Amino acid sequence: MNYMLLFFSCSWVISPISMFTMVVALIIFSTGANASIGVNYGTLANNLPPPRQVAEFLLHSTVINRIRLFDADPQILRAFAHTGIAVTVTVPNHQITHLTNLSFAEQWISDHIQPHFPSTNIIRILVGNEVISTANHLLIRTLVPAMQSLHTALVSASLHRRIQISTPHSLGILSDSTPPSSAKFRQGYDTHVLKPLLSFLRSIASPFVVNPYPFFGYSPDTLDFALFRPNQGLLDHDSKLLYTNMFDAQLDSVYSAMDRLGFSDVEIVVGEIGWPSEGDGGQIGVDVATAAEFNKKVVARVNSGIGTPLMPNRTFETYIFALFNENLKSGPTSERNFGLFRSDLTPIYDIGILRPTVRTSNPENNPRSPGRGSSGKRWCVTKSGAETVALQRNIDYVCGLGLDCRPIIKGGACFFPNTVEAHSAYAMNLFYQTMGKHEFDCDFDKTGDITAINPSIH
Ligand SMILES: *[C@@H]1O[C@H](CO)[C@@H](O)[C@H](O)[C@H]1NC(C)=O
Ligand SMILES: *[C@@H]1O[C@H](CO)[C@@H](O)[C@H](O)[C@H]1NC(C)=O
Ligand SMILES: *[C@@H]1O[C@H](CO)[C@@H](O)[C@H](O)[C@H]1NC(C)=O
Repeated sequence: MNYMLLFFSCSWVISPISMFTMVVALIIFSTGANASIGVNYGTLANNLPPPRQVAEFLLHSTVINRIRLFDADPQILRAFAHTGIAVTVTVPNHQITHLTNLSFAEQWISDHIQPHFPSTNIIRILVGNEVISTANHLLIRTLVPAMQSLHTALVSASLHRRIQISTPHSLGILSDSTPPSSAKFRQGYDTHVLKPLLSFLRSIASPFVVNPYPFFGYSPDTLDFALFRPNQGLLDHDSKLLYTNMFDAQLDSVYSAMDRLGFSDVEIVVGEIGWPSEGDGGQIGVDVATAAEFNKKVVARVNSGIGTPLMPNRTFETYIFALFNENLKSGPTSERNFGLFRSDLTPIYDIGILRPTVRTSNPENNPRSPGRGSSGKRWCVTKSGAETVALQRNIDYVCGLGLDCRPIIKGGACFFPNTVEAHSAYAMNLFYQTMGKHEFDCDFDKTGDITAINPSIH
C-alpha cells in the first residue's frame, strides 16, 4: 500500500484539456534585413543529412547565423569552417567533473577547440546542459569550478577574448515566478550555485543562458498568452507592469531573480525556445500552424528591440529549438517534433528565416485523429519500492521542464507530507496529466504506476 495515497489532502485536480478548433491565418512571412537568429542543432536522430550539407544549407538558404551544438562533434565543427556562422559547443554533463582538473581542461580545449578555431567561428562553450535540473549533487557542486578551470585553459591558449563560457539552465532554477517581479532562484541553489556562477559570468563578461519554454507552461486558458496573441494580460501588482505574453513574464522572472542577488547587469541569452508541430492527440495548440506562429513571433520579438517590461529596449540573442525533428528522442511525440526542418532539409514551416530563393513546401495539414476519448479518470503515482534517488530525479525532471511545481514548494498546498515520495508523486502526476495521459507519460523509468483511485481525496 502506498502510504502517500492516505495522506494527500491537497488538490491534484488539473484542468482537463478541452478541444477546440483554432483557425490560424497563414501569414506571408517576410524577413527583416537585420533578423539574427540562432538554432539548436540537435542530432538525436538517425536520418539527418551530413553536416557539410547542413552547413551549406544554413549558409545559402537561410538567414540563420548562429548554431548551438549539444556536444563538440568534430565533423560538424569542420563542416561549419569558413561559413562565418557563430557556433556554440557544449561540454557534455559527464565530462564536467573531470574539467576541474586543469590539465584535463587544457587537453579538452586542445582536442576540441584548437583544431577548429578560428576557421570555425566558435564563440562560446556551454559547460553541461541544465545541470541543476539533473539533481546530481556532484555535478552541481563542480559546475562553477569546472567553468573556471576551462576559462583558465582558454586564457593559457589565449582564446579567452574570443570564446565565452557559460552554462544553460531550465526555468526549474526558479522557485516562484508569479508575478515576475517576485521571482527568486530556488533556495539552496541561489547562494551556493547561482551567486558564484553569476559572479563568475560577470567577471568574464559572459551571459547567463536560460531555456524558457512557454510550451511547458501553458494551459488551455493561457494559450493566447503563450502565443503572443491578444489577451487580457497579467498585471504584476507589485511592479504595476502589464505582461501581455508568457515569454516576457518568463524572462522578467529570470531578471528579477538575478536582480535579487545583485546581478541585473549580466546579459541574458535565450539558449533554447521552441514549440512542437506535432503532439499526441488531445493536446490543444500543438500543430504546424501554431508552431510556426510561435517561433515566428519569437524571432520578431527578440530582434525587435522592444525588450520586456523590466528590460526595455533590448534584443536577446536567441536559439530556436530546434533545427531538425529528432526521431530518436524519447518521451511524448512532441519531443521528436520541435524541428524547423525535415531530414531532407525541406521546411516543415517557414518563420521568415528562409532566403527568398527557397520555396516553402506546403505545411501538411495533419489529418491525425483529434485525440483520445475522455475515458475514466487516471492518476500517475509512484510505484511502491521505487528508489528515492530515482524519485528525486523525477521531481527535478518535471519541475525542470517549467511545469508548475509551486504546490510542492514550501508554503504550497501539497508541500506536506514533505517527503520525496509525496513530492515526486505530485510531479509525476502533473507531467502525466499535462502530457496527455499516455501510459508512457507515467513510466519514469519504471517508477510510476497509473491508478484509477484519486490519490488526493483519501
Ligand atoms: C537594422 O540595422 C540598422 C543598422 O544597423 C539599424 O539602424 C536599424 O534600426 C535596424 N532595424 C531593425 C528593425 O532592427
Ligand atoms: C588530470 O588530467 C590529466 C589529463 O587528462 C590526467 O592525465 C591526470 O591523470 C588527471 N589527474 C587527476 C588527478 O585526475
Ligand atoms: C526605450 O525606448 C523608448 C523609445 O525610444 C524611450 O522613450 C524610452 O525612454 C527607452 N527606455 C529606456 C529605459 O531606455
